[in-house]
Amino acid sequence: MTKELLITTSVLNANFGNLESDIRMINGSSADFIHLDIMDGMFVPNISFGFPVIEAIAKVAEKPLEAHLMIEQPDRYIERFAAAGCSWLSVHYEACPHLHRTLQHIKSCGMKSGVALNPHTPVQLLENILDMCDIVILMSVNPGFGGQKFIPATMDKIRKLRTMIDNAKLQTLIQIDGGVNAENAASLHESGADMVVGGSAVFKAADPVEYILRMKRS
Ligand code: DX5
Ligand code: ZN
Repeated sequence: MTKELLITTSVLNANFGNLESDIRMINGSSADFIHLDIMDGMFVPNISFGFPVIEAIAKVAEKPLEAHLMIEQPDRYIERFAAAGCSWLSVHYEACPHLHRTLQHIKSCGMKSGVALNPHTPVQLLENILDMCDIVILMSVNPGFGGQKFIPATMDKIRKLRTMIDNAKLQTLIQIDGGVNAENAASLHESGADMVVGGSAVFKAADPVEYILRMKRS
């Protein structure tokens, strides 16, 4: 576990009418990454944004872009996410029948590779693929929408995954995505999370930069 909690800010909850100003806010904050939630209307019941928006974000962003693909057959687009400026790419376990090949593909494009797990998917299923994962995203809401309530059963999954990573002496990061705020971030960190997604809680805050710092100090 890294000492300091890493923060990745999800732009799903940003103002798409003035995205540049929100990206500049993130640039000037203590956030470590920008989290891009990519939804195809098939794997999840929502559609978010695609390459033109990612490219526009990449032009302004001063933090690494970390994309969370909630899409079917992500292999079709891996090169394009790299070309659009993403340096970390995570796919869903539930969307990838050939996960080892998909992660190899991501790495061959020069990106860090990650796997996201839905709330019902046990962490034990990662046993034979964990060494290929630079990051594991534990979904603490059902993917598809921002602003949902944190699912408490995630805590147990964090502790189990922490033990698996430590026992295997790996550097894999654990990210928690969904319903995270300045109130629950500290308990996630203590349970073994390395990184949390700041979504609607950040963008609803009166002072988002100060709110990100509060999360970071958790
Ligand atoms: C949900 C997304 C999350 C979401 C987080 O499908 O993967 O990254 O934007 O938003 P909050 O923090 O509002 O739950
Ligand atoms: Zn996400």
